[in-house]
Amino acid sequence: MLSTLRPAATRATLRQQAVNPQVVRLAAAASTWAHVKEGPPDAILGITEAFKKDSFKEKINLGVGAYRDDKGKPYVLPSVRTAEQKVVNSTMDKEYAGITGVPSFTKAAALLAYGPNSKPIAEDRVAITQSISGTGALRIGGAFLQRWYPGSKTIYIPTPSWANHKAVFSDSGLEVKQYKYYNKDTIGLDFDGMISDLQSFPEGSIVLLHACAHNPTGIDPTQEQWQQIARVMKDKNHYPFFDMAYQGFASGDTDKDAYAVRHFIEQGFGLVLAQSFAKNMGLYGERVGAFSIVCDSAEEKKRVDSQIKILVRPLYSNPPIHGARIASEILNDQGLNKQWLGEVKGMADRIIEMRALLKKNLEDLGSKHNWNHITDQIGMFAYTGLKPEQMDTLAKEHSVYATKDGRISVAGITTDNVKRLAEAIYKVTG
Ligand SMILES: Cc1ncc(COP(=O)(O)O)c(C=O)c1O
Repeated sequence: MLSTLRPAATRATLRQQAVNPQVVRLAAAASTWAHVKEGPPDAILGITEAFKKDSFKEKINLGVGAYRDDKGKPYVLPSVRTAEQKVVNSTMDKEYAGITGVPSFTKAAALLAYGPNSKPIAEDRVAITQSISGTGALRIGGAFLQRWYPGSKTIYIPTPSWANHKAVFSDSGLEVKQYKYYNKDTIGLDFDGMISDLQSFPEGSIVLLHACAHNPTGIDPTQEQWQQIARVMKDKNHYPFFDMAYQGFASGDTDKDAYAVRHFIEQGFGLVLAQSFAKNMGLYGERVGAFSIVCDSAEEKKRVDSQIKILVRPLYSNPPIHGARIASEILNDQGLNKQWLGEVKGMADRIIEMRALLKKNLEDLGSKHNWNHITDQIGMFAYTGLKPEQMDTLAKEHSVYATKDGRISVAGITTDNVKRLAEAIYKVTG
């Protein structure tokens, strides 16, 4: 409030307070933010802190959700380096992008997700906008559904799901509920539970589906199971919201990883999709992503597109251009594209290899447990089935850091640390 607008009595009180130190102290305690309570730290950041403090030379960090090479180092894809150099050399200007971003990027992102033979793309009925990576895409999606979805503003997410889903969607104004996904007894998919939950939800519910490499479990439905999920969702007229943060990163093949999204499209679904290029291009901090809506017609797309713009403009006006230009080079230049697909496969293959090595090391040590789930699961994360106390012991006694839910980032495993990791897990689990 401007001081000139304060009532005279308040001004007088303030003058008094200024000369009485005790009152000044009280006034300080009653600051504008006095009621703000400290919130819990981010679970992952807490792990990184504990890891940093540990002075043991062979400590292992399996908490971070970012790819590491076999030396445990962050990896910038050579195709990204080349594309970035091309962008820099082209001396493009730094003008604002439009509200929906860099068009050459979004067009190519849609093709990557929906495929070269996509009917909705051919019929010009996909509305797409660049987003602040996958999180931003989810947030735009949440906000769009909150504003425009004609049915119940509730979104159903799997149990468990990526730790941020609940916050993203509830902050968007949606109610968040859950459906069964993980079976702790089999450390696998609770397919029957998932199907019966989908059948029990009210007609026309919004359902969030991880397109591939489910985070945190690494457990994906098979293609046959996806077909069944689609059938049930069609029967119930549910609306799919796909989160595809790992296209290519799961199997090493971007088409295979897009199976679920493309199958739903073939079945005639309208849907929304959040894409991230953080993992598959290693563009984490560049924040490159896309949000799209598959509409019924080109005319509908035009209307939807206008409302996406109206929604995005007051959020952040328009997205950053540098990362999108890099992604655009990679997606649109045939040679670079081929190189990138090879590099994505290289990352996925290293992860698959580390899963196999971890399992083999545990078996070689004589572990009586069944570790098949380590290799059955896919993508960056493995859900080990370890309990929170066991994860604590791993950290305290073996300097192995990961989240309490037993999730480990397979990207943090290397040929150098896998043996020690297996020994630590063996000691903790027997
Ligand atoms: C399932 C899932 N969705 C979305 C994201 C969003 O990631 P970003 O905002 O970095 O693209 C992540 C990142 O870990 C994820 O695992």
